[in-house]
Amino acid sequence: MNPVTQLAPLITGLPPSFTWGVATASYQIEGAVAEDGRTPSIWDTFSRTPGAVHNGDTGDVACDHYHRMPQDVALIKSLGMDSYRFSVAWPRVQPGGRGPVNPAGLAFYDRLVDELLANGIDPWVTLYHWDLPQELEDAGGWPNRDTAYRFADYAAIVFDKLKDRVGTFTTLNEPWCSAWLGYNVGVHAPGRRDFDASLAATHHLLLGHGLALKAMPSDSHKFGITLNMGTADPLSSSDLDHEAARRADGMGLRLYLDPLRHGTYPADVVADLAARGSALPVQDGDLEIISQPFDVLGVNFYFGQDFAGTDDSGNVVDAAGQPVVRAVFPDTPRTAMGWPITPERFTSLLTRLARDYPGLPMVITENGAAFDDVADKTGFVADDDRTAYLSSHIAAVAAARDQGADIRGYFAWSLLDNFEWAEGYAKRFGIVRVDYETQQRIPKQSALWLRDSISALRAAS
Ligand code: NOJ
Repeated sequence: MNPVTQLAPLITGLPPSFTWGVATASYQIEGAVAEDGRTPSIWDTFSRTPGAVHNGDTGDVACDHYHRMPQDVALIKSLGMDSYRFSVAWPRVQPGGRGPVNPAGLAFYDRLVDELLANGIDPWVTLYHWDLPQELEDAGGWPNRDTAYRFADYAAIVFDKLKDRVGTFTTLNEPWCSAWLGYNVGVHAPGRRDFDASLAATHHLLLGHGLALKAMPSDSHKFGITLNMGTADPLSSSDLDHEAARRADGMGLRLYLDPLRHGTYPADVVADLAARGSALPVQDGDLEIISQPFDVLGVNFYFGQDFAGTDDSGNVVDAAGQPVVRAVFPDTPRTAMGWPITPERFTSLLTRLARDYPGLPMVITENGAAFDDVADKTGFVADDDRTAYLSSHIAAVAAARDQGADIRGYFAWSLLDNFEWAEGYAKRFGIVRVDYETQQRIPKQSALWLRDSISALRAAS
């Protein structure tokens, strides 16, 4: 037997039509931040803010993908992938976030799409993976309603250029992270700490999604949005812990999926917000725009959590007088991010989505793990841990399909080690190692296992 494939069972239980891919995002891999007319994004600014990013790392060079794109496409092909999910950098295409197109910036994605197609790889476009043009942030950012309209203009520009060759366009990647981590917790760009601003950002991101769908009219393309979703289980059977889990699920999942799929914000969340004097800035007609039909839900899953309604000292309200909603990691092995490894909760998430939001095909647009990789003299990483993570989570997807969830594909996060936001380059999610000194790419054991699994699945069909 091939020694690579001995280390984890090969994938079974997924059909030949299932799509396999790898994912990346512009700011995390491209580098070349000042080339060909690109202007700064909020992540260029944030990463230069002292103390914001581990080690003071920035995306200035990252994986230098902007200059190494053909080799990276060849790498994707060598791994046997059907599809490649990448994001387009708004500040390359439309510097400053409004006004005329920058042909040199758009040309990069044109070349990328051509290169993918020439190699038999299906391009999957994400329009926004967090690199908001800084000039739009200076004008108020996502809490400013106008940003939603600017996003729709930008979406139309990218769509018009690539629609003859790209079949799937997703609007936003993980709007919860943009709104909550960016504008409330402040650990992501733009680093603001303002609860009401994060609520406004949430609504305007969703409005931007809906306006972008309207700006890309077509019956022959697939459109979607990618959400980050975990599971929120009560830590115990107590009423307080059930209430905490309800609140976490409301703010993390239903606040996004209910307006998208049901055309309303969840009543319990709206009531909780009102109780603290806050509200989503909804205007007449917004929910019709947000709830337009779309074709595919992108699911990003990393881990599930439990929630408690008391803090470590037993208090039920925090210093600000708000109910305690305390995340507790299940007692399982962890990744290098400190995240618990919970594949069975992936199955329960997917079957719950199929039940509560029926009629919407799903694709796993991200799943993967950072571990403390150790490279041998040749740069090879025998990442049993990542291989096991991928194997158990792909099995969890197959189990959810067996229970009726309509899941059409799986993208591993990520093709390459890359700029992991506030963690900089310290956390490695790649199935391919990047030596940042030389920019050499070396597939890890997990990449070879995935390649061999996909090819065995195809051979069996
Ligand atoms: C989700 C984000 O979309 C991606 O950019 C990030 O690197 C991974 N999670 C891992 O944290």
